[in-house]
Amino acid sequence: MRFHVMTLFPDMVSQGLAASITGRALEKQIFDLNVVNIRDYSLDKHRHVDDYPYGGGAGMVMQPGPVYDCYADILKSCKRQPRVIYMTPQGTVFSQKIAEELSKEEELIFLCGHYEGVDDRVLDEIVTDYLSIGDYVLTGGELPAMVMIDSISRLIPGVLNNKESAEYESFQDGLLEYPQYTRPEVYHGKSVPEVLLSGHHANIEKWRHEQSLKRTWERRPDLLSKADLTDQDKKYLEGLKKS
Ligand code: ADE
Repeated sequence: MRFHVMTLFPDMVSQGLAASITGRALEKQIFDLNVVNIRDYSLDKHRHVDDYPYGGGAGMVMQPGPVYDCYADILKSCKRQPRVIYMTPQGTVFSQKIAEELSKEEELIFLCGHYEGVDDRVLDEIVTDYLSIGDYVLTGGELPAMVMIDSISRLIPGVLNNKESAEYESFQDGLLEYPQYTRPEVYHGKSVPEVLLSGHHANIEKWRHEQSLKRTWERRPDLLSKADLTDQDKKYLEGLKKS
């Protein structure tokens, strides 16, 4: 998988993804990251990439020329025409399902906007997906692009090691993750749940699954209607609701 990021703040993206698990995977070349500075495609002697909005109003708008030329240059290195994702609060809200779908692509291009936005004509021409990371406004598309690359890349085989494996984590089966504990066995007077010390794997599995159901019901009940629930799960939830 190769991620291309078109941005005015390349260091922010490269340095952010160079840390932790994504950094380790980049070092091992499990996926590739090509961060491109849109400013390098300015034809202006002062390297400007923005201008005043037609019709007036606050802020500046990114001009179509540098964005398009940057995109065209990236395309030269691509086998097929990749999907182009524009980060905007006007987009579809990003989710685990979208991350899974995008993780199957060979290449993805992320376009990070700044100022009051990007000239709509170039967006119309090159963007295939408008995505948001939530109903709030950020100063630019860099953090959303990093969020998406982080969550997509951890689904690529080899990015997580066995211990980090995504298998039992939140959202994988539409439920939140069960609570985790480590040493010490007693902390501030609170003991680790007995079952986790028992070594009885089947009981531990059952307890964890029930905790996932309980957590989801308590914290994100909206997820339960979409989760894959067995008859036994439904019975357990009925019991919870009654108690
Ligand atoms: N750009 C600014 N705010 C954003 C958001 N919430 N999601 C994606 N891109 C953005």
